[in-house]
Amino acid sequence: MKIGMFDSGIGGLTVLNEALKLLPDEAYFYYADTDNVPYGEKSIGQIRDYSEKAVCFLKDKGCDAVVIACNTATAAAAAYLRSRFTIPILGIEPAVKPAVEHNAGKRILVIATEVTAREKKLEELISRVDNKGLVDVKATPGLVGFAERGEFDSPAVRECLEKELSGLHTEEYGILVFGCTHFNHFKSALKEIMPPGTEMIDGSAGTARNLVKVLNSRGCVSEGKREIHYYRSGREVTDKETISFYESVMAHLEEGQDL
Ligand code: DGL
Repeated sequence: MKIGMFDSGIGGLTVLNEALKLLPDEAYFYYADTDNVPYGEKSIGQIRDYSEKAVCFLKDKGCDAVVIACNTATAAAAAYLRSRFTIPILGIEPAVKPAVEHNAGKRILVIATEVTAREKKLEELISRVDNKGLVDVKATPGLVGFAERGEFDSPAVRECLEKELSGLHTEEYGILVFGCTHFNHFKSALKEIMPPGTEMIDGSAGTARNLVKVLNSRGCVSEGKREIHYYRSGREVTDKETISFYESVMAHLEEGQDL
């Protein structure tokens, strides 16, 4: 199968990493929209335009389905994209439901981009699954740039995280939900900042399971051979350095998975 994925940058590699576990031998087309990162600080209209361009590109590559490997683009553009394309368009959303189901009485904190935090989609999801009022949302801007530079844990990253989380009673939270695919990369830094034992969860594994279901239900045929093509805003990535950076980012994600 030909599977397209897009994100503003390296965040969606978390989804690619999970998809590769379930569908290891397919052709993947990963579009990192690095010309327009960060999406979380753009208008809804801009995010829709960028997303439409990405889907057009992936469709032209022959993709059977496209995964929006970005919570912000899902919140801002999933419905719009589905109204414009006939191939399946899958989204990712913060893993609030599994967090509520798994929760042992403590509060749950969702961290996300400004767009995701203020969009109706997240509010509706929380009101659907959180009947005990345990979920809080905090926009944490400023992090995506660090991830794009491959800076996942440094004094500057910790300072930024501490600043974003200051004012919250972090000891009240038992689960931290990553409402942005870039945030997985800060897991080890966050483990030092959040109280010991805080569990961390994101929606990428659920999105990969959903992808399998959709492709099976469409009768898509397996390629039987793994291929991964990376693009930066439509330009194919051919230099070994960037490809090995992407691979090392995925390997880094495997360290210390929670939930
Ligand atoms: N990785 C994206 C998300 O899941 C967007 C980050 C950004 O570009 O602001 O929301």
